[in-house]
Amino acid sequence: MNSYGLLAGKTGVIFGALNESSIAWAIAEAALREGARFALSNAPVARRLGSLDKLAEASGSPVIWADATKDGDLQTLFEQVKMHYGQIDFIVHAIGMGVNVRKRVPYEKLNYDWYAKTLDISAVSLHRIVHHSLETGAMRHGGSILTITYIGAQRSFSHYSEMGDAKALLESIVRTWGSRLGKYGIRINAISQSPTRTTAGQGISGFDAMYEFGNQMSPLGNADAASCGDYAVTLLSDLTRMVTMQTLYHDGGFSSMGIASEFVQPLMEKLKG
Ligand SMILES: NC(=O)c1ccc[n+]([C@@H]2O[C@H](COP(=O)([O-])OP(=O)(O)OC[C@H]3O[C@@H](n4cnc5c(N)ncnc54)[C@H](O)[C@@H]3O)[C@@H](O)[C@H]2O)c1
Repeated sequence: MNSYGLLAGKTGVIFGALNESSIAWAIAEAALREGARFALSNAPVARRLGSLDKLAEASGSPVIWADATKDGDLQTLFEQVKMHYGQIDFIVHAIGMGVNVRKRVPYEKLNYDWYAKTLDISAVSLHRIVHHSLETGAMRHGGSILTITYIGAQRSFSHYSEMGDAKALLESIVRTWGSRLGKYGIRINAISQSPTRTTAGQGISGFDAMYEFGNQMSPLGNADAASCGDYAVTLLSDLTRMVTMQTLYHDGGFSSMGIASEFVQPLMEKLKG
């Protein structure tokens, strides 16, 4: 992909790149190609689980370890970012984890402490990040904030379980913050992404079936992480300066489909027989 220089001169923070399969990693690569400079952040535990230092080295980015559920970590992060870059133009929040989902606890029997942790990591962390970016004065007028969601916020996907609730809250936070960020000239949006083979994605039991269903149902097939990176940079650029408070589907057409002929055909044959 050629560079269009969409983010030339812009700076930001990208949360959530764990390894090469992460959506945040693909966004970082696309942002770098488009001329941005950015700090990378992840939870301290990701230091031994992932390979963020590799991305940091390749992109010449500082890494600031911060648990996105901890106010102190986020306050310090934005102070450091401000010292490094001055005010920044964008924030990417690509953080999520379903604790019950990962531990294979069904929705009917949720452990509520884990459920609260799921909501805190996957949704409330966006609220905290926006809050601390404002408190520290780290975001510039005209800035763009982006998060990554899934259509499980609107529709029930059996194995997505508690994560559907987390994404519904996440998308609501986008709207509720968005109405307040306008006066700072800051916009906020969510990309609703296809099932993507990442560490978080594959932590969901039945992920392969959801992936296959999405792929067969979507006229263009599932959108991959690299194309999500390309879409993300348009939303971080000035080209989309009047877009805010939106859930934007990046899913090969899945969200507008009812049923694809791949699924009708076998049913017709079954009914005939
Ligand atoms: N993979 C998919 O199918 C898919 C589809 C739609 C949306 N999403 C969303 O995309 C986002 C990125 O996930 P991904 O699929 O790239 O997986 P990923 O596992 O690569 O990224 C999730 C990231 O969240 C980080 N994280 C977890 N707890 C944290 C904490 N307390 N503080 C800071 N960071 C923390 C992890 O370390 C990891 O880097 C998530 O919000 C996910 O729900 C994923």
